[in-house]
Amino acid sequence: MSQREQWSSKLGFILAAAGSAIGLGAIWKFPYIAGQNGGGAFFLIFIVFTLLLGLPLLLAEFTIGRSTQDHAIASYRKIAPGTKWYWIGILGMVTCFILLSFYSVIGGWIIIYLFKAIIGDLNGLSSAQYADVFGTTISNPTISLIVQFLFMLITILVVAKGVQKGIEQASKIMMPALFILFILLVVRAVTLDGAMEGVTFLLQPDFSKVTSKTILEAMGQSFFTLSVGVSVMVTYSSYLPKSQSLPRSAISIVGMNLVIVLLAGLAIFPAVFAMGLEPGAGPVLLFNVLPTVFSHLPFGMLFFIAFLILFLFAALTSAFSMLEIIVSVISKGNPNGRKKWSWIIGLAIFVFGIPSALSYGVLGDITLFGKTFFDLMDYTVSNILMPLGSLLIAIFVPLKMKKTALYEELQKGSKLKKGLFEAWFFLLRYVAPLLIIAVMLDVLGVW
Ligand code: PHE
Repeated sequence: MSQREQWSSKLGFILAAAGSAIGLGAIWKFPYIAGQNGGGAFFLIFIVFTLLLGLPLLLAEFTIGRSTQDHAIASYRKIAPGTKWYWIGILGMVTCFILLSFYSVIGGWIIIYLFKAIIGDLNGLSSAQYADVFGTTISNPTISLIVQFLFMLITILVVAKGVQKGIEQASKIMMPALFILFILLVVRAVTLDGAMEGVTFLLQPDFSKVTSKTILEAMGQSFFTLSVGVSVMVTYSSYLPKSQSLPRSAISIVGMNLVIVLLAGLAIFPAVFAMGLEPGAGPVLLFNVLPTVFSHLPFGMLFFIAFLILFLFAALTSAFSMLEIIVSVISKGNPNGRKKWSWIIGLAIFVFGIPSALSYGVLGDITLFGKTFFDLMDYTVSNILMPLGSLLIAIFVPLKMKKTALYEELQKGSKLKKGLFEAWFFLLRYVAPLLIIAVMLDVLGVW
């Protein structure tokens, strides 16, 4: 096999994998789903799922990727030759295809706001006017398609350039900057008049609001924010040298993600309550609320522009990983193939995403199972395909990989205690499959 690309530094991998994880899931999706599901109880269930399922699964994907040093399909083939387990990789590719098709719509919304903020269209509006301007803009078919296309174009150009130069370099500066701006935003939001109600909403669980739908959405959300169940993390860790500690990487990614989720919640909900807005507003929540928070800061629009650039970046680093997993399988590491396939697949994703982009305008009234095209795609990915992929990975690893080999792989670059290893193995082998199946059956009304 030819020399494979590797991450140029330990930090490069962590930042890129964290870049895949931290994105719209933590910043855009978490607040709106939590808002629709009653706040605190959802948050708590989400944390429990992240620790009991997300973390062990992330580590499982890392182990598959680094032990085989191969992409999302070949890695399963290497471990279980002659079997159909590589379909986990195919499922992951399909999921990422659909995921990116609507992810790019939201990416486009960030571009719209960025543009509007730069040309000064957002100066001095009231919070109701922000919601109005935003709603009108995203319902315009030409604008929403142009910005969705722009988002895909950037994704294609970076992925076409290749792993090292494309993804790693850029992740290094932007993530810490985003983090710092978020802290500023939280400080402003929680000091608004009437903000405490929002803090309580997020941090005080009210279990009377919990239904089986809440539980499913919390589980889907924990997979979504960590990018697990779609073999993206298998692909990323396949570029990783043996000197890196997998458990430490997984823990730091989960930790960073939880912090960003908390910061996003603390930036949004206090402001929602302080302004008398509706926490269950759905996908537009963040976009309606944020400009108001920024407008209460000195030099607010400048900070807003900086925030949007970083937010766009966070969304892009996740988008790169979705396209990367598909391209890396299809181009088989051949640089010319990479370029060609990045374009072909990227454009196909854009076309597939058109109905999602139009779901907030001309196709808004067309629904299937009571959902717009956008909502249907999001629901399918987050609540069906990602849990399914995660379930299969949780079954695959303990079944097809030798326990001693797993322990050895996890020991490389780290001193993992035997007890912790056993705990991980137990969570993966028993807790994860049973819990995922139980939640899915619950939603089907079996209990
Ligand atoms: N974790 C990403 C986010 O939160 C979404 C994602 C899911 C990315 C699956 C890659 C694969 O935005």
